[in-house]
Amino acid sequence: MCGIVGYIGHKEAFPILIKGLKRLEYRGYDSAGVALLNKDLDLNVYKTKGKVKQLEAYCKGKDISGNIGIAHTRWATHGEPNDRNAHPHYSQSENLALIHNGIIENYLSIKKLLINEGYSFKSDTDTEVLVHLIEYVKNRYKLDLFDAVKRSLNFVVGAYAIGVIEKGNSDTLVAARKGSPLILGVGEGEFFLGSDATAIIEYTSNVIYLNDEEVAELRLGSSPKIRTLKDQEVNHEIKKIELALEDIEKGGYPHFMLKEIHEQPKSLEMCMNGRLNRELMEIKLSGITDNIERFRSAKRILITACGTSWHAGLIGKYLIEELCRIPVEVEVASELRYRYPVIEKDDILIPISQSGETADTLAAIELAKEQGAFIYGICNVVGSSIARATDSGTYTHAGPEIGVASTKAFTTQVAVLTMMALTLGKELGTISQERYKKTVQELSEITHKIEKILLLDKEIEKISTVFTYARNFMYLGRGYNYPVALEGALKLKEISYIHAEGYPAAEMKHGPIALIDDEMPIVVISPKVRIYDKVVSNVQEIKARKGKIIAIVNEGDVDVKKMADFCIEIPSTDECLTPLLTVIPLQILSYYIASIKGRDVDQPRNLAKSVTVE
Ligand code: M6R
Repeated sequence: MCGIVGYIGHKEAFPILIKGLKRLEYRGYDSAGVALLNKDLDLNVYKTKGKVKQLEAYCKGKDISGNIGIAHTRWATHGEPNDRNAHPHYSQSENLALIHNGIIENYLSIKKLLINEGYSFKSDTDTEVLVHLIEYVKNRYKLDLFDAVKRSLNFVVGAYAIGVIEKGNSDTLVAARKGSPLILGVGEGEFFLGSDATAIIEYTSNVIYLNDEEVAELRLGSSPKIRTLKDQEVNHEIKKIELALEDIEKGGYPHFMLKEIHEQPKSLEMCMNGRLNRELMEIKLSGITDNIERFRSAKRILITACGTSWHAGLIGKYLIEELCRIPVEVEVASELRYRYPVIEKDDILIPISQSGETADTLAAIELAKEQGAFIYGICNVVGSSIARATDSGTYTHAGPEIGVASTKAFTTQVAVLTMMALTLGKELGTISQERYKKTVQELSEITHKIEKILLLDKEIEKISTVFTYARNFMYLGRGYNYPVALEGALKLKEISYIHAEGYPAAEMKHGPIALIDDEMPIVVISPKVRIYDKVVSNVQEIKARKGKIIAIVNEGDVDVKKMADFCIEIPSTDECLTPLLTVIPLQILSYYIASIKGRDVDQPRNLAKSVTVE
């Protein structure tokens, strides 16, 4: 939540900052702002409610010159989205400007102290205390900006990634982080700040990942100076990021979400590359084999995640329990972290996260670590906070996912969980050689089957046009496809704003069946698997109540097809792999319903891609 970007060098900062903000807009888009130091070393702050485009319009005709600047795109936490609460915030004297991503938990006590010292506040944000506090400490102890930031942050409780610049000081940009992501880009005679690499990739692929409680001074003509809040010197190695520009552009699609839906065959190939050997029909997942003794002695596996990643985790439970016979519990991270869970040393915690920055998932990891559990992460973003907080793990390698609605991240998470379960099941001897080979063979064909489903795009678009009237939707599935029903419902509600519920199909008669009438669309996920006949009975119950049925069935289906109003036919596969196929038409359906309704598909209201606050 919130994206921050900064620049110091010899180029004009404004275009670099604006481009960076556009790339980071997926993190929040309630307001945007920029602070620049012009050639007279005056500090200009421009900020406005709305998206980066509105900021650009607002800046027309203003002095946007300067080779040093910071910029911010906001997802509101403290204080409503308006001009006043937009970042950057000035200090009392307007000598400092600051941007912040995170939450300052003790902002009220700091604010009280500063008010007593004569400071007045112009916004309702928690952030404003930071900039006043830094100015107060700077003046009181006669410190330079770097030391003032370092000293001030010792008083702060909460999460932050910040950038600060100072009037009259053209060669210094100070940054710091704790709990919120921040990278430093190291160019030729220039430095960048970014919440992630997408903001700076055009200019440099050399980055430094700051750790928690570290403060950096970016000064022209010298290497970055980094010290901890306790004033210890830190020397970070410069790392290379591997990210191509085309990965973060729409490439001719109207929305990132549609591009990412269609990218799934490619992202799954990247995910399985070097892991699935099609000649030998076997899987090699070094994360599992390197830690096989930990898994062998595990009494229980706990999976934790949020949103779509939690849905992938639920499928992971079905996979691991079926193929490895290890008990698995799955819990949303925001619940796990605040109850008093029993976690033993022999437990393995598997956090799943696309961004690797989700605050609740990170906190659940810390809790499990304290209790001695082994942490095995499934993450997309390389070098992210979650990836770094785990003992071991597997990257999904889906490539950057920019649409707020998660699509390719989900299928690659499920693919990783499948490869884990197959590897582990083979090592533990809990699956037969025959089953192993058959499922690996099916997995090796999955991307071709997804390509076939993607060809149904136009057919699904047509079905979507029928249902834009709906105010409610129900999604039903059983077994491996119950989590897919949850995922289908989440996709629809987050981008179309239509209320949708996912249910285990047989639970319908315990309550939700009361909602069914001749206007209610019900998406039934009914591939021809073990409990197909049971789902057929559930479909009959809906039909008897005149619900409108959209069914996801296998090619050649007869029974459900007879009753459904609309059928989307997909290829068949091994039951445990069906989520990788059944979810695709649901993603396409929600995409078209939302885009036909004119919704902002990639940046739906109130949401942000990366939820770095709890
Ligand atoms: O980055 P993460 O996978 O940790 O994010 C978790 C959720 O915030 C995320 O899946 C969210 O639910 C998506 N908007 C769903 O499409």
